[in-house]
Amino acid sequence: MIIIKSKEEIELIREGGFILAYVLKKLAEFIRPGITTWAIDKKVEEMIREKGARPAFKGYKPRFASEPYRFATCVSVNEEVVHGLPSKKRVLKEGDIVSVDVGVLYKGYYSDAAYTYSVGEVEERIKLLLEVTKSALYKGIEKAVIGNRVGDISYAIGSYVKSYGFNPIKDYCGHGVGKHLHEDPSIPNDGEPGKGEPLKEGMVIAIEPMVAIGSGNIMLKNDGWTAVTSDGSYSAHFEHTVAIFRDGPKILTPWDI
Ligand code: MF3
Ligand code: CO
Repeated sequence: MIIIKSKEEIELIREGGFILAYVLKKLAEFIRPGITTWAIDKKVEEMIREKGARPAFKGYKPRFASEPYRFATCVSVNEEVVHGLPSKKRVLKEGDIVSVDVGVLYKGYYSDAAYTYSVGEVEERIKLLLEVTKSALYKGIEKAVIGNRVGDISYAIGSYVKSYGFNPIKDYCGHGVGKHLHEDPSIPNDGEPGKGEPLKEGMVIAIEPMVAIGSGNIMLKNDGWTAVTSDGSYSAHFEHTVAIFRDGPKILTPWDI
C-alpha cells in the first residue's frame, strides 16, 4: 500500500533529509587512506546525534536478516555492493571506493541516502563507474513526475547504465519512505517504461541505483549481510530521498557532492 504524504509531513522528512545531506557532505572531508570503515560509522552516528536525530538503521531488521542491524551505516568497499558491516579491521587504501548508506529518523519520519566516495585517486574505469551511477540517479529522479510510472524511473536508470556497458544490480531496489524506512512501492533499477505503479503527488521515494562494472550478479557473504558482486567487479551506489510535487520532483537529501 502506497502512503501519500501531506505537505507538512514532507517538510518533516526534508528537515531530517537535510541533516542526512549535511552528514554525507562532511564525510567527504573525513574519508582518506588509512581510516577504517568502523571510524566512518562512528563519525556518522556522532554527527546524526549531534543534530538531535537518530540513526535509522541501528536496530532495524530487514526481511532477509535474522537479527537487527547493529550499526548506523552500511559501508561497502569495492566489490561490496550494499550492507557492508563497519569493521575495525577494514582499513581504506588509496584507489578504493567506499559507499556509505545512511538512514535518519527525525520527528517520526525517515530519510535515506547513500554516496560512493573515492579514496584518494582511483582508476579511470572506476571513476567512470562513479560518474555513471551518480548520473543514473539523476536520470531516474527526472522521471519521478506525476503521470509517469515506476517503470519509467527503472528504465531511465537501467538503460543509461547499460549504455556504458555497466550493469544495474537487480536484487536490490529503491522504495517508498515515510513513517517507515521501507514502504511501497518498490523501485527497481531496471525495467520497462510505462509499467508499474503510477506516480502521484505526495509520494516520497528513495531512488538508489546500484551498479557494477561486471555482470551485476551478486552473492551474500557469510556474515549474512554483505552483498558482493559474484565476479568481484567494483560496484557503486548513490541514493536520494525524493518527494513528488505537482511541479516536479524535489530532492529531500541534497548532498550535492
Ligand atoms: N539503506 C538500505 C536501503 O535503502 C537499508 C539498509 S537496512 C540495514 O534499503 F538494516 F541494513 F541497515
Ligand atoms: Co534505501
